[in-house]
Amino acid sequence: MTTALILLMAMVMVSMVHHVQGTSHLSFANNTEVNITRAGCGDTKLCVQTPDGCDPAASTQCLFASLNASTTMAPNGTDLSVELSGNSSGYIALGLTANASQGTTLLFICAQNNGSFFFRTMTRNNSNSMISPSETRVTEIRGSVNGDMIQCEFIIPGANATDTRSSNDTMFIVILGQGPVNGTAIGSFNETLRTDLLNVSDPSSNVAPTPTSNTTSSASTSAAHLHDVLLLLLPSVLSVSLLKTN
Ligand SMILES: *[C@@H]1O[C@H](CO)[C@@H](O)[C@H](O)[C@H]1NC(C)=O
Ligand SMILES: *[C@@H]1O[C@H](CO)[C@@H](O)[C@H](O)[C@H]1NC(C)=O
Ligand SMILES: *[C@@H]1O[C@H](CO)[C@@H](O)[C@H](O)[C@H]1NC(C)=O
Ligand SMILES: *[C@@H]1O[C@H](CO)[C@@H](O)[C@H](O)[C@H]1NC(C)=O
Ligand SMILES: *[C@@H]1O[C@H](CO)[C@@H](O)[C@H](O)[C@H]1NC(C)=O
Ligand SMILES: *[C@@H]1O[C@H](CO)[C@@H](O)[C@H](O)[C@H]1NC(C)=O
Ligand SMILES: *[C@@H]1O[C@H](CO)[C@@H](O)[C@H](O)[C@H]1NC(C)=O
Ligand SMILES: *[C@@H]1O[C@H](CO)[C@@H](O)[C@H](O)[C@H]1NC(C)=O
Ligand SMILES: *[C@@H]1O[C@H](CO)[C@@H](O)[C@H](O)[C@H]1NC(C)=O
Ligand SMILES: *[C@@H]1O[C@H](CO)[C@@H](O)[C@H](O)[C@H]1NC(C)=O
Ligand SMILES: *[C@@H]1O[C@H](CO)[C@@H](O)[C@H](O)[C@H]1NC(C)=O
Ligand SMILES: *[C@@H]1O[C@H](CO)[C@@H](O)[C@H](O)[C@H]1NC(C)=O
Repeated sequence: MTTALILLMAMVMVSMVHHVQGTSHLSFANNTEVNITRAGCGDTKLCVQTPDGCDPAASTQCLFASLNASTTMAPNGTDLSVELSGNSSGYIALGLTANASQGTTLLFICAQNNGSFFFRTMTRNNSNSMISPSETRVTEIRGSVNGDMIQCEFIIPGANATDTRSSNDTMFIVILGQGPVNGTAIGSFNETLRTDLLNVSDPSSNVAPTPTSNTTSSASTSAAHLHDVLLLLLPSVLSVSLLKTN
């Protein structure tokens, strides 16, 4: 009976802990240096950005993300290395989802509280756009804030979708956006870019076949027709946590 009581108390405590938003699922790297460039875009990393083809190292107006997948595949999933750069007095975010019109989007948020960097994970309900805290594990987080310029790097370990959906493990829709903060409270998410379904294990999967008038290097991934519908394509590597956290 005592054992049962202890067990019951333990369960209550565990469920309480579970509902309080903590940050124990996040770990930070010592090295705070963040250097985000287009080097490797389309070759060793999948790049998504708005405006089309913009360079995060050259423009403060460039909202940019890159994804690099480790070679490990299903059923163990793959580790996804992410770079994220953009201008916001609040936060910038990367979203990954399997279907933007149903289920949830996992949001990885790099934010500033009056110049101090902080990191959060949230899920967005794709049906009603409500966001709520999630406990998605993220490692090796690094971030910097310079005025309104926020840059960060992090790793999403062990993406694995084989038990939550039928589509290919490494196929994801990538979303970029930003929003306000109030202290360290995350305000509503404003989506500014959404790709088609991309294979995150292929860095060139969103590189357009036709070149544009862009003068940037061969890594440029712009495509006029995509621009028209505000869609870019990127692969992404995360799915288990997507549905796990809803
Ligand atoms: C952080 O730095 C300490 C001391 O410099 C070192 O012992 C530790 O391994 C570092 N941790 C990481 C994750 O690099
Ligand atoms: C940033 O990275 C680029 C390309 O990897 C490199 O050329 C440049 O020297 C780096 N800058 C700093 C400040 O580390
Ligand atoms: C990720 O980056 C590493 C190191 O640059 C590279 O060897 C690997 O091929 C990249 N992954 C993909 C899927 O391109
Ligand atoms: C998956 O992980 C297990 C345990 O770490 C390992 O034994 C197995 O070889 C991995 N499978 C693949 C396909 O990487
Ligand atoms: C990934 O999902 C498969 C299917 O549910 C499961 O067998 C496997 O253990 C999972 N791998 C990891 C690393 O969670
Ligand atoms: C950056 O964003 C802020 C709003 O968050 C805006 O006031 C500012 O003009 C932007 N700066 C640049 C250089 O785009
Ligand atoms: C996404 O969800 C919508 C609405 O539930 C559905 O009609 C559509 O077929 C789904 N798309 C994919 C690619 O699964
Ligand atoms: C933000 O920081 C500046 C200087 O670092 C300080 O003067 C200002 O009061 C701070 N604002 C808030 C809302 O904390
Ligand atoms: C998943 O994608 C990989 C890489 O593009 C491909 O080799 C594999 O055949 C795909 N699997 C399925 C079930 O579509
Ligand atoms: C920010 O949060 C504080 C404390 O919760 C609240 O009093 C204030 O109204 C909030 N400000 C805005 C602009 O929402
Ligand atoms: C969302 O961002 C766009 C431009 O990035 C801006 O025009 C729009 O007003 C924003 N919407 C909200 C609700 O903040
Ligand atoms: C998402 O929102 C819809 C509509 O409000 C609701 O029916 C659904 O249960 C929500 N899904 C999740 C996972 O919260």
